[in-house]
Amino acid sequence: MLIRRATSDDAELLATHRAAVWIEVGDWARADLEPQVAVWTAFFSGALRNGTYVGFIAERDGRVAGSGAVLIHASIPRPGFASDRAGRVQSVYVDPNARHQGVARAIMQYILDFARSAQLISLSLHPSDPARSLYAALGFEAADEMTLRLAPG
Ligand SMILES: CC(C)(COP(=O)(O)OP(=O)(O)OC[C@H]1O[C@@H](n2cnc3c(N)ncnc32)[C@H](O)[C@@H]1OP(=O)(O)O)[C@@H](O)C(=O)NCCC(=O)NCCS
Repeated sequence: MLIRRATSDDAELLATHRAAVWIEVGDWARADLEPQVAVWTAFFSGALRNGTYVGFIAERDGRVAGSGAVLIHASIPRPGFASDRAGRVQSVYVDPNARHQGVARAIMQYILDFARSAQLISLSLHPSDPARSLYAALGFEAADEMTLRLAPG
């Protein structure tokens, strides 16, 4: 298996994988997400270029097996750690034919290595049920947080 860093040319692939996650583990219908894929593609294209979205793509036998990414955002430096950036893991997705073979674990390992080398203060994520044990095994812990959605709908 080859894991490579995504470029802006991969924006549409990452947007398609994001939609696949929302369809599979969210309550979203494919038809409702189709227009959003173009919006995400444009967003990822810019963010991959300016380094605020860092993606990794797993390939096997020349075919895409999965991907995952981290959205980098400003964060207040903590005592003893001067970094001012943290990350949110996004849209880890593995093709159904490639599952249970360690693809997601390998992608996450790249994300963790990147996060450490970029000195991100922390990584957060919203786990799906099937991914929860993987994240726990990698050291992620439940955090006591609340979210208020301000967007319409
Ligand atoms: C969750 C997902 C990314 C796992 O990908 P994968 O490549 O099959 O995962 P791995 O083979 O690396 O397995 C990692 C661990 O996750 C666990 N796991 C994987 N699939 C699982 C499933 N369907 N149910 C329960 N646990 C599962 C296993 O315990 C495995 O642990 P092990 O390495 O000790 O065997 C994949 O099933 C997927 O894309 N699901 C739909 C989208 C999704 O839920 N994405 C996560 C968003 S937070």
